[in-house]
Amino acid sequence: MQAVQSPIIPVVGELIKNHPRTISLGQGVVHYGPPKEAFDQLSQFLAEPENHKYKLVQGIPPLLEILKAKLESENRIQLGEANALIVTAGGNMAFMNAVLAITDPGDEVILQTPYYFNHEMAVVMAGCRPVLVSTDENYQLRPEAIRQAITSRTRAVVTISPNNPTGAVYPEQALREVNALCRDRGVFHIHDEAYEYFTYDDARHFSPASIPDSAPHTISLFSLSKAFGFASWRIGYMVIPERLLVSVKKIQDTILICAPVISQFAAVGALKAGRAYCQSQMASIIEVRKLFLKELESLKTFCTIPAASGAFYFLLRLRTDWKPMDLVERLIRDFRVAVIPGTTFGLETGCCLRVAYGALREETAREGIGRLVRGLKTLIKA
Ligand SMILES: Cc1ncc(COP(=O)(O)O)c(C=O)c1O
Repeated sequence: MQAVQSPIIPVVGELIKNHPRTISLGQGVVHYGPPKEAFDQLSQFLAEPENHKYKLVQGIPPLLEILKAKLESENRIQLGEANALIVTAGGNMAFMNAVLAITDPGDEVILQTPYYFNHEMAVVMAGCRPVLVSTDENYQLRPEAIRQAITSRTRAVVTISPNNPTGAVYPEQALREVNALCRDRGVFHIHDEAYEYFTYDDARHFSPASIPDSAPHTISLFSLSKAFGFASWRIGYMVIPERLLVSVKKIQDTILICAPVISQFAAVGALKAGRAYCQSQMASIIEVRKLFLKELESLKTFCTIPAASGAFYFLLRLRTDWKPMDLVERLIRDFRVAVIPGTTFGLETGCCLRVAYGALREETAREGIGRLVRGLKTLIKA
């Protein structure tokens, strides 16, 4: 465990706690909770004493059924003999399940940088080596660089779209290219779709597992945390090649047994409310996003914001000698606004800051971005 990085987010959290009235543009969560339909299921859960016992490792049948329908109609992922569906305690657990199922210690897993830190940590925890391939100046995939990074020890290529921490949405063509590359080289394509509902403007979400014949080498990870305001309920799910089912069940049985059954009941309700629920919450996120873009525009003499048409993040690239964590500390101390340093996501050079805009209502968001812009202008121009 000493080889595993400590995530910086709790450190920033501590700084926020010590500086009351700080507005956090750090948290990767949404401002809303689950739909009413989720809570409606709870009485059903409580009415049946058997529900307090362990349930199937793979998930409760009504949840598997509604997820199957959602995957087929929204993601165009056909479930059949070649693949399997498993309910997990969130997307992070789904990723850990995947890594443990497909690797031996010493194997390599290709991550794109900037990476989602828990992915990097999971790979190291499994005794494997994260091989980092940088995205381009717009935080887009570089399939040729990925191809060159594949060795005889590579077990998987990981992609996330819409992306945390960059907000980039990968075009269908790029994901198809990576998926085909994985097929040709005999490695898995692990694709994290936690932010599938969060796209803006012309950006379109695409699931690589919808590609015909992709099932044997594609692992798709999903989460209810963002779309349904479900972060603390801990429900995610994964679509895996059928031949991994026994392994993933062994792993999940050992670590978890089954995802909390009360949360699985709630998830059935959330899925009944469906995508429309998330869409009904998106209007305010879209407004905050517009406001942030407008305010950040005034930093353009020293700050680049690559296009980010998904999730709820911007990853600012600042032309300055400031070390990102020093800047984050000063922004909290002097301007009472918190963001996350790019170093958290494996960016060792330059000065990048991740700004999250999903968690705040408009008024607080306005005050928060105002503080950030003032802070950056003062500190960087000083
Ligand atoms: C890309 C990505 N995957 C997975 C997760 C974790 O999701 P869950 O709460 O379902 O474990 C996050 C959370 O921020 C994320 O950004």
